[in-house]
Amino acid sequence: MSDTTTKETLGFQAEVSQLLHLMIHSLYGNKEIFLRELVSNASDAADKLRFEALADVALFENDPEPVIRVACDAAARTITVADNGIGMSRQEVIEHIGTIARSGTREFFQQLTADRAKDAHLIGQFGVGFYSAFIVADRVTLVTRRAGLGAEHGVRWESTGEGGFTIETVEKPSRGTEITLHLRPDEDELLSGYRLRDILKKYSDHIAVPILMKKEKWDADAKKQVATGEDEQVNRASALWTRPKSEITEEQYHELYKHVAHDHEPPLTFVHARVEGRQEYTLLLYVPQRAPFDLWDREHRRGIKLYVRRVFIMDDAEQLMPAYLRFVRGVVDSNDLPLNVSREILQQSRDVQAIRAAAGKRVLGMLEELGEKEPDKYATFWAAFGRVLKEGVPEDPSSKERIAKLLRFASTREESGAQAVSLATYVGRMKEGQDAIYYITGDSYATAKNSPHLEMFRKLGVEVLLLHDGIDEWVVSSLTEFEGRPLQSVTKAGLDLGKIGGEAPKPEENQPSGEQGAMLERMQKALQDRASGVRVTHRLTDSPACLVSDEFGMSAHLQRILKTAGQPVPSSKPILEINPSHPIVERLKQETDDARFADWSHILFDQATLAEGGQLEDPAGFVRRLNELMLTLAGAGPSKIWMP
Ligand SMILES: Nc1ncnc2c1ncn2[C@@H]1O[C@H](COP(=O)(O)OP(=O)(O)OP(=O)(O)O)[C@@H](O)[C@H]1O
Ligand SMILES: [Mg+2]
Repeated sequence: MSDTTTKETLGFQAEVSQLLHLMIHSLYGNKEIFLRELVSNASDAADKLRFEALADVALFENDPEPVIRVACDAAARTITVADNGIGMSRQEVIEHIGTIARSGTREFFQQLTADRAKDAHLIGQFGVGFYSAFIVADRVTLVTRRAGLGAEHGVRWESTGEGGFTIETVEKPSRGTEITLHLRPDEDELLSGYRLRDILKKYSDHIAVPILMKKEKWDADAKKQVATGEDEQVNRASALWTRPKSEITEEQYHELYKHVAHDHEPPLTFVHARVEGRQEYTLLLYVPQRAPFDLWDREHRRGIKLYVRRVFIMDDAEQLMPAYLRFVRGVVDSNDLPLNVSREILQQSRDVQAIRAAAGKRVLGMLEELGEKEPDKYATFWAAFGRVLKEGVPEDPSSKERIAKLLRFASTREESGAQAVSLATYVGRMKEGQDAIYYITGDSYATAKNSPHLEMFRKLGVEVLLLHDGIDEWVVSSLTEFEGRPLQSVTKAGLDLGKIGGEAPKPEENQPSGEQGAMLERMQKALQDRASGVRVTHRLTDSPACLVSDEFGMSAHLQRILKTAGQPVPSSKPILEINPSHPIVERLKQETDDARFADWSHILFDQATLAEGGQLEDPAGFVRRLNELMLTLAGAGPSKIWMP
């Protein structure tokens, strides 16, 4: 173990150096954000203290009122930001300032392109944070002490932003963190109380903790403003969401968002509502423009702050928003919950459950409005979060219908492949006589779009939704209808194309007595281990055959998903449907050699499997049969299989 009282020099994690370099260069044009970031951290530190003090009130150390102090010293050329929040232990400093522990870091760095403009965009998405101090400072000193530890457990951290940092244990009587920025040579314009107040008003007015600066007065001798000993509050420090909407500017809404969401970019949309009734609470909820890197981590749920009568309680999205809306960020402020509410109480509280349900409904309302009024923004939303929202269909039966209206799909009508068609749009352009909403599921857009099952639908001009997200199978298994119209897979048996102007199978076609019937029976025999039946279909125009699943059985796509997930899959064989007018099928009818006939039947079956994105159980067998066929066709002498 290293001696923790002496000074140590430690290296930055490689990613930190990379991030610092990138940040200094790409964000220089917007350099004053460093102050917003440091104030935002100070405010988070006050929140964390308040949360931990719920369990241990001694942490307040007789100094319970949170405060953030900002000062500048023109002679020393420094700016300081100090708070009396939670502070950090030596270990915490090393972990939080010096490494980037955030999930998704690796993915972030993999995406960097060395194209500065693009990377600047990415950095915004990642969050800027503490390191933004190095945009304006060539040396940063941080002195901190964690609440609850003795004064001798203070920690001094210092870095020039290159390579690494030093860390040593120092005395620090007051709890909290003080950060001193030693400005770069050409940053003198920041050494002005006026300028700093201006930046704080612009970016940090919404911060609920008071931000204090020393009052300044004109010194006639020195001919400049000089700081007096008197404190002055710079921000309003009144919770933004308690103000009337008419008094809040768009920019202020956005700045609050950036703080709670740890996002550098403005939100896509938001809703601010005061709810009165059995319970009173205020909601200010935002939808980000982009998915965070940990969107798929259902465990990691922060970003909705719970307040009780304007006092921060905890950051716990899980209790306040359904999982399928986990991308929402913001604030819930309740007038009724007890101030000493713990996570356990939250989990059991009916009041919290009611807030959660109502907050979810508000978000759906906000999305409905966005979909109607701002379709471009809705498309951005859908691209980022559509797959998460879809989870709501199976998860939240009470909102299923509303979520269904918000869904967007790719379709055979949209060449671009974008997921842009709503169920309502689909229904609005259904063909006369059509009563079902047709869809196909596939592993990818290309597989779905090119499936042979769509051939007749294309010919008849009937739109089919192309579902290719992993979750879609679950969506359609719980969303069986939309506004009274059933959702129907085009890969199921028993499709009645007669209703949409196509040809329905004629019963005699599948009768063993006819010539065709006899062929079907031979094929069924050849494929008895693989197909549960062989039938004639009119759903194909160009392909000779396709596989369908039993009307009530599981689709082949779902079986594949379950298999990949290691789930047990009930063994059910598909039905092979063949296109009676296809030349291969017509020729096959004439084949008298049973072995060749069987080989051909297997090739048709395998082809159909491949065409819908499936995998062959015996790929080598398929290749062998195919090669023999090709040799035959190329005139390489008599073949074991079939001679046209
Ligand atoms: N004033 C402070 N008091 C206590 N801890 C702090 C303070 N400033 C920073 N930290 C710690 O350092 C960590 C890193 O801060 P940083 O601002 O880089 O990231 P963040 O606040 O977690 O996310 P964001 O990128 O959105 O700012 C914080 O999560 C916190 O644990
Ligand atoms: Mg931060």
